[in-house]
Amino acid sequence: MKTSRAVLVFCLLTLTALCCQSASSIFPTLNSTEDLRRVYSHRSIPEQSLLLLHMFANKIYIDNHDNIYPSFNPTTDYGSHGYWNYENLLVQAPPGCRYYTIGNVNKNTCSNSRKVPQYVRHPKGLTNVPMENRARIIFCLNIHWKTVHEVYLTQHYRWQTSSAYDPNHTFRITPHLLRELRSFSFNDDVTALQSLRDQYNQNLDDTQLNNIINIWGRHQAPLGLLISLILNMFRRRTGRSSGSEPMHQWQNCEFQQINVYLVTGSNGNAKILWSGVPQHVLKDGAAVVLFNNENDKTKRGYKQIKSSEGSLETSMRLNEGLQARLHTFKRSHWWESSPKLKNEICRGEEFHGPDSVPVTGSMFAKLQLFVRNGKSCFRLYIDNCREWKSHFGKSWVALYTSISKSTRELGQWQWVTKFKQAQDSGDFKSFEHCTRTTVVPGMQARFMIKDYNAKAYTPTWPNSRQFSRQFP
Ligand SMILES: *[C@@H]1O[C@H](CO)[C@@H](O)[C@H](O)[C@H]1NC(C)=O
Ligand SMILES: *[C@@H]1O[C@H](CO)[C@@H](O)[C@H](O)[C@H]1NC(C)=O
Repeated sequence: MKTSRAVLVFCLLTLTALCCQSASSIFPTLNSTEDLRRVYSHRSIPEQSLLLLHMFANKIYIDNHDNIYPSFNPTTDYGSHGYWNYENLLVQAPPGCRYYTIGNVNKNTCSNSRKVPQYVRHPKGLTNVPMENRARIIFCLNIHWKTVHEVYLTQHYRWQTSSAYDPNHTFRITPHLLRELRSFSFNDDVTALQSLRDQYNQNLDDTQLNNIINIWGRHQAPLGLLISLILNMFRRRTGRSSGSEPMHQWQNCEFQQINVYLVTGSNGNAKILWSGVPQHVLKDGAAVVLFNNENDKTKRGYKQIKSSEGSLETSMRLNEGLQARLHTFKRSHWWESSPKLKNEICRGEEFHGPDSVPVTGSMFAKLQLFVRNGKSCFRLYIDNCREWKSHFGKSWVALYTSISKSTRELGQWQWVTKFKQAQDSGDFKSFEHCTRTTVVPGMQARFMIKDYNAKAYTPTWPNSRQFSRQFP
């Protein structure tokens, strides 16, 4: 009796094991970036899948027991909608669990859901890749615990108008891979980027890393590194050489262990800080030179430097994008009466204020505090949305001298509908208003819809360089 019951239990366990094993082994499992590299090297998978996967990994939290918690609304954000599995792509969802699919880039704007971000749809470093809107991530959402259980990367058939997913290009994604992708999160810190490169040790040298930064920008460089690691083989296969990417040849100072950067000085002026300038460079003659931005070719001012570390208050009004570069400063010929600015040695990071923050309850709007000619200014990003003026008819943005001020202790302010339209940025329209108040560290802007309950608080204006900017 006892034995037969044991046998029965054993059989049941085996059956359960079989059922679950088959459920998860229908599709190949991707458990590491190495697995990703392998499938990209011999399968035709849209690059957007990789970007979408990077986005997904960086919008979740994974605990020590591999439970996955989304930090976004899994039922509506990033084009998410319920997936009914009509085509029987997946096994039936377990009780209490419902499939959702994300990644559709054509979701309505002006809604309260987040859209698939610009860096997934039109990545900076993959300009020759068409946006096909085929990549999707399907996951099972536990509707009670709001945890994510199964994650699949899939894609729509190529050239087909039907909405079916391609079972031949569907992969199971493990928490281990998602964790690995999280280490490639956006980060401005070049040293962190170098150690990430060292960890993956793919024979990428500093020159290549420097190029990745120049193409993707500092903030998104970890994503650029990931793409380079995974698509290398792919590029060779399709004959799409990295040489077809625009090459930007300047050197970022950090690769020479030099730091040159800008901070907010007094009276809204730019202040240059530098450190790590080697003695032999100083002995040869060196100067810090200001440019309006990375693309600027006109020197806006310079000063010779004589110590490896120091700071300089300039009389240049602070503006977004301002950049300090290091040049040699010497007499090349005996007939020159005084030293002159010569070759560029390297470039520092462009100056940028804090990132924009979403306005609570209206995901189509973001608020940013920025600087123009030394004055603090507000910028609203509106996601291609005509109705915004009626939403924000009675809304205003105000300046606060510190985060400890109550919302009624406001400084200068303006009705949102009176902001002036500025240059579009990606798929956002932007509207700006500049106050007459000089930027000082600690300042904050807040967005009010109609009463004194702020719906957005910008990060405070920094007094030194910020490495870990948030991305929108
Ligand atoms: C994924 O890789 C980790 C680390 O190598 C390993 O512990 C885990 O068992 C792997 N998971 C799967 C599903 O292969
Ligand atoms: C998937 O692969 C099988 C076997 O190669 C093939 O018969 C089938 O048509 C493929 N399905 C799609 C959607 O490409």
